[in-house]
Amino acid sequence: MKTIVLFGASSAIAQAYIEHLQINAPTVQVICVSSKKADTNSNVVYLKSDYTAQSLAKVTTYLKEQNAEIQQVVMFNGTLHNKTHMPEKKLEELNADYFNELFNSNTLTPLLCLQSILPLLTHKTQCTITALSARVGSINDNKLGGWYTYRASKAALNMLFKTAAVELARRAKNTKLVLFHPGTTDTALSKPFQKNVPADKLFSAEFVAKQLFTFTFNNPHLELNGEPAYLDWQGEAIPW
Ligand SMILES: NC(=O)c1ccc[n+]([C@@H]2O[C@H](COP(=O)([O-])OP(=O)(O)OC[C@H]3O[C@@H](n4cnc5c(N)ncnc54)[C@H](OP(=O)(O)O)[C@@H]3O)[C@@H](O)[C@H]2O)c1
Repeated sequence: MKTIVLFGASSAIAQAYIEHLQINAPTVQVICVSSKKADTNSNVVYLKSDYTAQSLAKVTTYLKEQNAEIQQVVMFNGTLHNKTHMPEKKLEELNADYFNELFNSNTLTPLLCLQSILPLLTHKTQCTITALSARVGSINDNKLGGWYTYRASKAALNMLFKTAAVELARRAKNTKLVLFHPGTTDTALSKPFQKNVPADKLFSAEFVAKQLFTFTFNNPHLELNGEPAYLDWQGEAIPW
């Protein structure tokens, strides 16, 4: 059965994306992976995971048992701040625990999720695999500085996807990797940083879900060229 797999499915953008899929891709099975428990219904199946390799292996087994024909995968996982730490404004604010936490959620977790999907992919599989990245992960675009850890965690995610795209061109040639910048979206993640964002640049999760669907699901402009696309919410390429 044609299947979409969403990791980090409790994310505010993911929840809006699930709603969008219900209307715009109603015949596709949606499998959500989340650290939080949620009710499965006839259209959307929830699998609980703590994102360890062991737990993600159970996701792989489930998808194989379902004979899932993977059409799309999206990893929404990400963290920007926690109870004790906000993004750094200066070098003195670097903290090893915060750094490790963000690299775990923003960089390692999406790659482990990709690893868990790999056994489902063949050269015949036509699908897109998208991780939510961020424009601040662009090395070229970094004019403002600051946010050392978050920037680096997304830049490293971008590099990992670039590396994986080379491998997938050999192993699953019709799979396209995408890194998607949603723009500043009104969610808990961006809440502390919204006050200087102009109203027309602060997007609702519903708007971003629509843009994500347009540019990553059956987008005829996505080229199978052995490289990931790094796109913003308008579908414009972001410099690496
Ligand atoms: N909001 C923005 O303005 C903005 C801007 C640029 C990029 N982004 C990116 O867009 C993505 C979604 O953001 P959002 O605004 O929807 O954020 P959100 O509502 O805070 O959702 C983030 C999700 O990441 C997962 N997560 C949290 N901590 C984790 C951990 N330690 N390990 C693994 N997974 C963890 C959780 O999903 P589960 O509990 O379901 O596992 C959580 O619901 C993130 O990658 C973020 O960096 C957002």
